[in-house]
Parts: sequence; structure tokens; C-alpha cells
Amino acid sequence: VTAPTGVWLVGGRGSVAVTTITGAAALRAGLTAPTGCVSATEPFVSLPLPPVQSLVFGGHDITQSDLPKRAEKLADGGVLPPGLPGLVRDELLAADAEIRPAEGKDIDALTADLVSFRERHGLARVVVINVASTEPRYRPDPAHASWESLRRHRESLPDSSRYACAALLAGCPYVDFTPSTGIRLPGLDELARARGLPYAGSDGKTGETLVKSVLAPMFTRRALRVRSWSGTNLLGGGDGANLADPARAAAKAGSKARVLGDVLADPVEESVHIQHVADLGEWKTAWDHVTFEGFLGARMTLQFTWQGCDSALAAPLVLDLARFMAFAHQVGARGPVPELAFFFKDPIGSTEHSLERQYAELVRWAVEAA
Ligand SMILES: NC(=O)c1ccc[n+]([C@@H]2O[C@H](COP(=O)([O-])OP(=O)(O)OC[C@H]3O[C@@H](n4cnc5c(N)ncnc54)[C@H](O)[C@@H]3O)[C@@H](O)[C@H]2O)c1
Repeated sequence: VTAPTGVWLVGGRGSVAVTTITGAAALRAGLTAPTGCVSATEPFVSLPLPPVQSLVFGGHDITQSDLPKRAEKLADGGVLPPGLPGLVRDELLAADAEIRPAEGKDIDALTADLVSFRERHGLARVVVINVASTEPRYRPDPAHASWESLRRHRESLPDSSRYACAALLAGCPYVDFTPSTGIRLPGLDELARARGLPYAGSDGKTGETLVKSVLAPMFTRRALRVRSWSGTNLLGGGDGANLADPARAAAKAGSKARVLGDVLADPVEESVHIQHVADLGEWKTAWDHVTFEGFLGARMTLQFTWQGCDSALAAPLVLDLARFMAFAHQVGARGPVPELAFFFKDPIGSTEHSLERQYAELVRWAVEAA
């Protein structure tokens, strides 16, 4: 019998985390189908990824709200089926007991929480996934260029990078589901490689950018010239409230803007707006307006409206990433894993943004590594 795999969620009491933990429990109990879980489709089902049944959850957060209550709120908001939180209450309480307060802890204390979680549960490995609130954009300091110098300044790093540092020091692979700086500092990359640890990020591709990464290559393939692409995003929920802060919205808009420059042949007039609309709750609306030019200069327009339940889109990807990252660690990957670009708006180590090509890379990598 192989040892179970740990999944440590930074921001473990947030909407994405609670939907992930509840969803894993529902899958384990056979209460739901793995809709939205890429790792539950061929060819991945035939590969030795750790089963969802074997995942044990823990995490860090700065709030105290208990998981069953958070899950009830998500059910009231229509994210989770009514009644589901009650059916998986034991699993929610078990995860709740493993979510450690993070406030005031230095990196050594965060590292100790991870090591203790792994040892107490006899886990084969623990994948750390950042699903905490997006931080304001951070300008890296030249002192972070090597591990040797970063080590001396490590407590002054943004929280996301302190968690990434703790993950690496505890010997854990790390995934950034947010656009925060996290592991994207040369000193942390050096540490990951030196410790033989894989990592991936950043910013889960769940909505508007997902659609963009399918539609933009279409224009390129048909030699149509995109002239402008304007996106308006209305967000509710904790993420929306957090992104109402312009500095945090800038970090998000930055990672959303990567796709077009890489996929389209010509420069395009692009804008991405993010606005908080509290009444939308856990829902998000993206309206994209695209102008393009065809044969003999004919002008045309494409518009789409995406109305997504953000946490329901994100949670299955968090489960996928936990399983793929555990697999990457098991097969000895170290440093960034560009083959996981499929999951991200702003993939570390890859400039490929076309969803189809990213998918082909993921399949090739996983099948070859297995
Ligand atoms: N839902 C999606 O589709 C999606 C897609 C891509 C990225 N994301 C990112 O995932 C993250 C989580 O989204 P959410 O909707 O769950 O937000 P949320 O506001 O519901 O949850 C965030 C959680 O992080 C905690 N937190 C904040 N600062 C922390 C810190 N310093 N240390 C530990 N915990 C901290 C909060 O207390 C909260 O529990 C956001 O950064 C969001 O941008 C979400």
C-alpha cells in the first residue's frame, strides 16, 4: 500500500480551498462525478497519479472561520449542492483541524507545520498550493537573485514567497494558483533546483483567459488580424473584494494579459478591467469584445459573455495540480514544470499559451514520465 499524499492549501479557509476539500470528500464518498477534473480523463486515468481518495488536506490561513461553516455558506451561495457539507462533515472537520494559523509565524515555524503534517500522517509527500488572496504586485529586489543573499532577507519577502520558501525548506513541491510573486524569485528557483523539488504556477486559468487561449489561436490559424481585445470582468466573492484594491487588480490584470502577446501575430490594442460587484457572490461575468480584420480589410467583431462559478471552476484544477505535482515529484522533476502550463494564465517556464498545444505537452510529458 502506498503512503497517502498531503495537499497543503495556503489560504485553506477560502472559497477555492473549501470547494476543493469538499469536492475531494464528495468524490471519495462517490457522491459526485469528477466533472472538470482533467486528471480523471484518458490518458491520465491509466497513469500512476495519486488517487483523489489518498489525498489528506491541511493548510495555513489567517482567519479562524471553521470549514463546515464556510462550506454551508458556499452551499447557500449555490456553489456547493445543498446538503453536501452535512454529508462530508467529518472530512471537513478533519481538514479544519489541520489548518494552522499563520499570523506572526516566521518561515521556520511555517516549515515546522509542514514537516509535522507530513510526519503525523505518514505522507509520501506534501504538495503545497497557494490559494490565498492575491497580493499587490511586488518588485523583486536584486538581493533576491541568489539563495545565498535571499536567505538573509527572507523574512522581508511578501507572504506568498515566505510560504514558497517554507515549502522548499520542508522538502515540498510548490504550486502557485494565484498571480502573487510566490516562488518567482531567482533565489527560490535556485533553492528548488538544489533540493530537487518541482514547482509550477502561476494563476489558475479558469475563465476569461481560458476562453482567450482557445479563441486567440483560431484567429492566428485563419490568418485573421485581431485589432483590439477588451475584457471587462465583474467579480463578487472574497476574490472580487480583494481585487477591488487597484494594486492587487494590477497583479491579476498583468497575468491575464500574457496570452494575446504570445499567441497573436500582430500587436493588438488590449485592455483588461476588473471590477468588484458584491451582489454577484461567488459568480463572475466576463464580457470580451474583439475587433478583427478580414480579407480586403473587412471589419468584424466577436463578443462573448462568460458567467462562471469561480470556485467550481478552480477546485477540480487544484485537485489535478495536486495529483500532477505529486507525480512530478515522484518521477524526479526539479525546478519549474513547464508541461503544467495548461493550468495557468501566466505559466512559469513556458511561453506557450494555446490551450490545445499546452494540452498536447501535458499528455506527452505525463505519458513519457510514467
Ligand atoms: N476561483 C478562481 O477561478 C481562481 C482562478 C485563478 C486564481 N484564483 C486565485 O485563488 C485565490 C483564492 O481565491 P478565493 O476565491 O478562494 O478567495 P477567498 O478570498 O475566498 O480566499 C482567500 C483565503 O486566503 C486567506 N489569506 C489571505 N491572506 C493570507 C495569508 N497571508 N496567509 C494565509 N492565508 C491568507 C484568506 O483569509 C482567505 O481565507 C485568489 O488569489 C484568486 O485570485 C482563483
